[in-house]
This record gives sequence, C-alpha cells and structure tokens, in this order.
Amino acid sequence: MKIKKAVFPVGGLGTRFLPATKASPKEMLPVVDKPLIQYAVKEAIDAGCEEIIFVTGRGKRAIEDHFDVSHELETQLEAAGKHDLLEEVRGIIPEHITAVAIRQSRPLGLGHAVLCAKRVVGNEPFAVLLADDMIYGGRNPALSQMCDEFEKVQSSIVAVEEVDPSETHKYGIVKTHMQSERTGKLESIVEKPLPENAPSNLAVVGRYILTPEIFELLENTSKGSGGEIQLTDGIASLLDIQDVYSYAYKGKRYDCGSKLGYLAATVEYGVNHKDLGDDFKFYLKEFVASLDD
Ligand code: G1P
Repeated sequence: MKIKKAVFPVGGLGTRFLPATKASPKEMLPVVDKPLIQYAVKEAIDAGCEEIIFVTGRGKRAIEDHFDVSHELETQLEAAGKHDLLEEVRGIIPEHITAVAIRQSRPLGLGHAVLCAKRVVGNEPFAVLLADDMIYGGRNPALSQMCDEFEKVQSSIVAVEEVDPSETHKYGIVKTHMQSERTGKLESIVEKPLPENAPSNLAVVGRYILTPEIFELLENTSKGSGGEIQLTDGIASLLDIQDVYSYAYKGKRYDCGSKLGYLAATVEYGVNHKDLGDDFKFYLKEFVASLDD
C-alpha cells in the first residue's frame, strides 16, 4: 500500500511571529522566494502523494488561494510573455494533484487537527507534515525516505532526531528499540516531557506516516499537554494495538517555528539558490568579514 494522501495541519496562530502573522498565515512566510508551506507540499508530492489536505483555521485563506489556480495571474503572465514565471506559478500544484481544505472550527490541538481530516483520508495510511519543520534532504527528502520505509514495515512511522537533553520539553519524545541504523520499534512516546522525565533525547520531528486506526483513538483522546488534544497521545494509544516505528531521517532540519531557525533556513536556502546563490554567498562573506572589523 502506497501513501497517497498528505495532511497539513495549518490552523495554528503563529503567535511567535507576531506582528508578521497578524493578518497573514505563518505558513505563508517566505523562505527566499517560496512560502514555507510550499516546501512541505513539494516534499509530499515528491514522495508520491496525490491528495493534499489542509486543515485550516481562521485567517488562513491565503494558503487555499496559493494552491488554487489563479486564471487572472496566469493570463497576465502569458500575455506579458513571462513564461518562466508562468511555469513557476503553474508548478505550485501539478495537474495530477488535488488540494482540499477542511476547516478546524476550534484550535483544539494537533491531534484534533489530524482528526478533522478523517473523512477525507478514509481507511488508508496517510502522511502528516508540519510545515514549521523544514527539512533539506537533497535528492531524497525526508518523507520519501519514510515512504520507502513504510513499504517495508507497513505500519505507522514517526520521524525522529536527537535533540539537546535540555530541549525535551519542546517535542514529543520517544523511547525506541533500534532495529537497524535508522529504524527503531517504538516502546513509548510522550509529549513535551521535562528533561528529568524524558525517556530519551530522541525527539519527534514534524513528519508522520499513520495508519487510519489513529482516528478512532484520537476521538477518544482527552486533552493532554497544554490542554490540547495531542497527536502524540493518540500515537501512544496506537502503540497498544499496533507496531509503530521511529525513523531517523537523513537531512537537515530548520525549526521555522522559531525566528532563529527561520533565519538559518533563509540564509542557507539563499546560499543554495540556483539563481541567487553565488551573489548571496559573495555578499555574506563580505558582510561576515565586516563584522570582525
Ligand atoms: C508538535 C508535536 C510534537 C513534535 C513537534 C515537532 O509540537 O506536538 O510532538 O515534536 O510538533 O515539530 P509543536 O511544535 O506544534 O508544539
């Protein structure tokens, strides 16, 4: 069974980026020349997903518009002979991909957001991507790696990465029994434990492949950490009925939910940008040298 559907919980308020996010969604903040969410959507499409499901909230219309066809813009670009830009705009969502949006009526947490996608996902395994976690994976992006792994294990998989032990309170933390270099069988998972209570320093990163049994479990999950319905708690219940795996993906993550991570992503994607990279590198070198003066 292949993963064809990808859920993007994009209902969050983005308070950490206020005032930038007062009237526009945090997922639309650009990294160089594309909004954050576009990188995650591309990752899902590159991994073989064909249905993109946004779980949105108040003030998130810009995301729906971004992934919808803009006939007016396309006609204008065509008339102006701006074919490169036209390609770029059309490429945001290739023709064989469908995008749908579901509104999460109240911000009750990540677990609740995923539950909102139940009807559209139906009875098949699916991916969840959190756009805040931008992952540079080169030719083999994180979700593609996980889909390959899914073909082997046919069970839920959470992406993990080691974090500094002092940071466990920011993540879902797992205890896992390693079975190969990158794959482990999950023994436990807990949302945002204090360092002294954390079962390890292996943190869940915003990429998941989940079996549909998660939905019923989420329906019966009560409020957890931060008073929200947590996906982590649903996965902890899933562990009682199915194997769940952790997967230490290959790639570099930028925590674009934080200003520092967002700036790092902007700089590094700028350096690697196909048109801009060389000039930006030159500028950066001069600028860094000037800091030492
Ligand atoms: C969410 C999850 C957490 C996970 C994190 C990854 O937390 O609840 O388990 O480790 O994403 O980015 P949030 O960052 O939304 O607080």
